Amino acid sequence: MSIQNELLSIIQDVPNFPKEGIIFKDINPLLRNPVAMKKVIAAMSEFARELNVQHIVGIESRGFFFALPLALEMNIPFVAARKKGKLPGAILSESYSLEYGKDSIEIQTDALKKGERYLIVDDVIATGGTAKACSKIIQKSEAIVVGFSFLLEITFLQGRENLLEGNSKIPIQSLVNA
Ligand code: PRP
Ligand code: MG
Repeated sequence: MSIQNELLSIIQDVPNFPKEGIIFKDINPLLRNPVAMKKVIAAMSEFARELNVQHIVGIESRGFFFALPLALEMNIPFVAARKKGKLPGAILSESYSLEYGKDSIEIQTDALKKGERYLIVDDVIATGGTAKACSKIIQKSEAIVVGFSFLLEITFLQGRENLLEGNSKIPIQSLVNA
């Protein structure tokens, strides 16, 4: 079975969660499956190695499940992009609208090194708002966003197009479309 089909069979659709009309993609069955998780991390690391990535940025919360094992697999630093008010010290911040709700995301400035190569990792790209805010923070610090890696892309929300506005050549990996 291809990795796409395997992931489609593992990730579960939950209708009307957390709100009426939203189909939630439940990745918990994947997190409980170490064989499939290792395949996901291997596919992401293959993509990241081609881009000569030097830092992995994981987006709180579900992005952490993929970004930290990826950074360890590649033996490079993991950088946490956290929701508002969680990080001490000097931070850079960006706000964004979500598929449901509004929030902002923050990164510690000392994690962002001018001229170095960063990959942004999250579980899902829906509207692309979260990942776009994260890339804006990194670019503000003159570090380089060299790519995005997602487990799952919800194609009808056109997050990919949103993300590529102003960054048209940045490669985007998504292991499965839904
Ligand atoms: C979800 C998902 C992505 C984001 C995608 O996170 O994990 O981070 O939404 O949506 P977007 O492309 O429209 O921005 P959520 O904010 O629900 O929180 P969680 O990861 O902490 O569960
Ligand atoms: Mg998230």
